[in-house]
Amino acid sequence: MPKTHLAQILGDVYLLRVDDEETRYFEALWEIGNKGITYNSYLLMSDDAVVLLDTWKKTYADEFLENLRELVDVRDVTHIILHHMEPDHSGSLRKVLEENGFRAEVLGHQLSKNMVRSFYGVNGKFRAVRDGERLSLGGLTLEFIHTPWLHWPETIMTYLGDRGVLFSGDAFGGFSIPSAIFDEDRIVPGYLTFVKEYISTVIGNYRQYITKNINKLMERNLDVKMIAPAHGLVWKNDPKAVIDFYLKVAEGVPEKGKVLVIYASMYGACDAAAGIVIRELERNRKKPIVYGFTDSERPPISGLMGDAADAESMVIITPTYESDVFPLISYITDMISRKIPGNKPILILSSYGWAGVAGKRLAERFEIAKFPVVDVVEFHGRPDEDSEKRIIESTRKLVSYV
Ligand SMILES: Cc1cc2nc3c(=O)[nH]c(=O)nc-3n(C[C@H](O)[C@H](O)[C@H](O)COP(=O)(O)O)c2cc1C
Ligand SMILES: [Fe+2]
Ligand SMILES: [Fe+2]
Repeated sequence: MPKTHLAQILGDVYLLRVDDEETRYFEALWEIGNKGITYNSYLLMSDDAVVLLDTWKKTYADEFLENLRELVDVRDVTHIILHHMEPDHSGSLRKVLEENGFRAEVLGHQLSKNMVRSFYGVNGKFRAVRDGERLSLGGLTLEFIHTPWLHWPETIMTYLGDRGVLFSGDAFGGFSIPSAIFDEDRIVPGYLTFVKEYISTVIGNYRQYITKNINKLMERNLDVKMIAPAHGLVWKNDPKAVIDFYLKVAEGVPEKGKVLVIYASMYGACDAAAGIVIRELERNRKKPIVYGFTDSERPPISGLMGDAADAESMVIITPTYESDVFPLISYITDMISRKIPGNKPILILSSYGWAGVAGKRLAERFEIAKFPVVDVVEFHGRPDEDSEKRIIESTRKLVSYV
């Protein structure tokens, strides 16, 4: 049985949260098996309306209904707001509507309408909400704000005007299962690492929309007292902290001295090159963070992405493999060049057995993605004395570039 939480977070506002400790790879990609994720749904109650904001992943639909029944007769739900259609939040919609007798009106972006039908076979009452539209329901005033690409094109947020609560969907969320509901000082610093990882993996490709949509929210001069996202902590003490943190990660603001060293090594040549680089970085008072992929180690790429977001620079070391870049490094390069801001200089090293080509290919790919490539060093087999010198020189070049 998963752990679930029901909490009254404000007068007539309730949180329904489930802690997902089962998913090993979020979106079938990102390693979260050691940290998990939460799905947060919210319920608003007024005299004439019962409004549900998002649901849980389908795996937990039965538990969702059990929790919902604690608060309300599901037949009394009048409105269901879908902030975006990704099934980690919309997955229980069908079951909720069945128990509800399909009475509730489903509200969302107009692009959600077809998805509701094709994902869940629901043809019932759907109402598209316009950007800035307001809806008064008894004592509640809801304002809908279109926030495209956070994280899907049809993303909206809901602002509960009278109470100052922003229901933000994926935005301002993070991985992991926090030990509290609210942003308590003792857990925020640790949790932010998982927020960074979530941004870099799940919404990194749309990072310019983080900035755009936050600016849009600011222009509306909303008096936001609480941010209630669809994953992780509810921000009550300091909602501005998570807004600022999202901006920082979206812009790739570097941590001084942090150098990400990524390498793969089948038989130890690139591993030896990584050792040379790490020693030289440390000699220059840099802080290398190392992800090495070998025949005995495969570190989580979700963690690597989080560390890439605030690295000052990166070193990437690849063996030559079938006249190309090593496949895992190729995949990591693809993820970094899509999801991480290109303000980080890169040093590329590559080992070959009979004809060097991987380094040049890798450099081309980063250059296309607008990352400055500081140097490319291709070396034969295990680095000999001459290769070692070239690796040290290029590491110094990287250090002095920043
Ligand atoms: C499966 C495999 C494919 C390889 N393909 C190439 C290649 O196409 N061109 C080349 O020059 N060397 C190739 N090599 C040789 C490696 O690039 C070379 O041995 C390198 O030093 C390996 O570094 P590592 O020990 O860090 O994995 C290949 C080696 C293996 C095991
Ligand atoms: Fe999403
Ligand atoms: Fe989500």
